[in-house]
Amino acid sequence: MTIPTPAAASADIGVYGLGVMGSNLARNLARNGYRTAVFNRTPTRTEHLIAAHGDGSEGVFVPSLDIDDFIRSLERPRVAIIMVQAGAATDAVMEQLAERMESGDIIVDCGNSLFTDTIRREAWARERGLHFVGAGVSGGEEGALWGPSIMPGGTTESYDRLGPMFEKISAHYEGVPCCTHIGPDGAGHFVKMVHNGIEYADMQVIAEAYDLLRHGLGTGPAEIADIFSQWNTGELNSYLIEITAEVLRQVDAATGTPLVDLIVDQASQKGTGKWTVQTALDLAVPVTAIGEATFARGASSGTAQRAAARVLNGHAAPLEVTDRDAFVEDVRQALFASKIVAYSQGFDEITEGGLIYHWDIDKGALARIWRAGCIIRAAFLDDISRAYDSAPDLPLLLAAEPFASRIQDAVPSLRRVVALAASAGVPIPVFGSSLSYFDTVRAERLPAALIQGQRDFFGSHTYHRTDKPGTFHTLWAEEGRPEEQWD
Ligand code: 6PG
Repeated sequence: MTIPTPAAASADIGVYGLGVMGSNLARNLARNGYRTAVFNRTPTRTEHLIAAHGDGSEGVFVPSLDIDDFIRSLERPRVAIIMVQAGAATDAVMEQLAERMESGDIIVDCGNSLFTDTIRREAWARERGLHFVGAGVSGGEEGALWGPSIMPGGTTESYDRLGPMFEKISAHYEGVPCCTHIGPDGAGHFVKMVHNGIEYADMQVIAEAYDLLRHGLGTGPAEIADIFSQWNTGELNSYLIEITAEVLRQVDAATGTPLVDLIVDQASQKGTGKWTVQTALDLAVPVTAIGEATFARGASSGTAQRAAARVLNGHAAPLEVTDRDAFVEDVRQALFASKIVAYSQGFDEITEGGLIYHWDIDKGALARIWRAGCIIRAAFLDDISRAYDSAPDLPLLLAAEPFASRIQDAVPSLRRVVALAASAGVPIPVFGSSLSYFDTVRAERLPAALIQGQRDFFGSHTYHRTDKPGTFHTLWAEEGRPEEQWD
């Protein structure tokens, strides 16, 4: 098809990169009344988008086959969204755009970029008089098209220009847009990264619940799908529970076998969960649920280790379930308790990241924009937003109401489920670690005191005492092991 050279300043916003996410975001913008410039390195994608959706019925597209035309077609101050692969491709496109843009123009990266790259890119753009906005976008392909949750970082000035457009195209929860300015430079991509980490944990606890139900009830995926659908009508109501039921109900047309039984049991990952855990280690925030969920994906994909471990007789013993309904309810409660732990830990990471990077993140507002559009959208995010609205400096989400009462009610079930799974040999990494975290964080006294003693013994690392101030060291090698006060 022939694509004419576009008129100058004929578009409100541009999208560079027309893969599925980029095309859908461009279609969302056009449908919402923004004249949307579109460009892709390989022209066929641009031609394809215009052939399929460029008849005017979905809004106005301003296509270009040449990058100079693309930039020229944008109204000033120009806004160009990059939707290409995170990493080197994003840097390359940024350079191409920056060369052609002018002071005050805005480059927006809507990919899943690492927040430290976004901090670097923002500084780079600022030196050139440009704004750079790293925006987390969640909701997958459908979200990009019909309304994602959008988490933009960058300057307030850039949000003044971008915000109205992004708020309009975002998902809405009871009329409230699922988009808010998160904070400067890398803040948007940071919270999107943690969103994905929570997504990993949420998916893993659902998978563990499914596995337990499968072992405990001896029923097939379709019956378990009904249980998930039932759970979805209550406090567990969420997108991930909803799609779980759909996945479990799917039957392979060719064989008549439940599809889930034909899918290879090796979970992949693109890296955002790993970044969440790496960053949490740097920030010294225990995100055990996210960590275990990320490692569980790795363990599932460790084909050499799994093959070698076959000698260990991998079959779990049957679960001893005497009361079906009580067991199903225990698993539901265990799932909810673990979910509270995962979100509480994720928000701890956001708190710490916000402090270290000086982002001043409004966690109530963040939870609000996760109530619709994004992959972890869930009914209980409403409670999370209320908890942080009423106490922005909340030190621990799971200790705040209504979560404190809820987790205390649910933990007896979690204990029964963990014990049952452990006795039968069913792996439950996130259920198990969530219970340990709960017991750790609420413990009056931890054996960490002994670790301090060990550290002091072999490395003079010193310790503090419970009964008096100061820093102490025991002279372990000397007769009588006297204690010294070091400051
Ligand atoms: C979203 C998703 C999205 C993507 C994940 C998948 O919020 O829309 O999180 O970003 O589907 O990155 O990640 P993995 O491939 O690592 O599971």
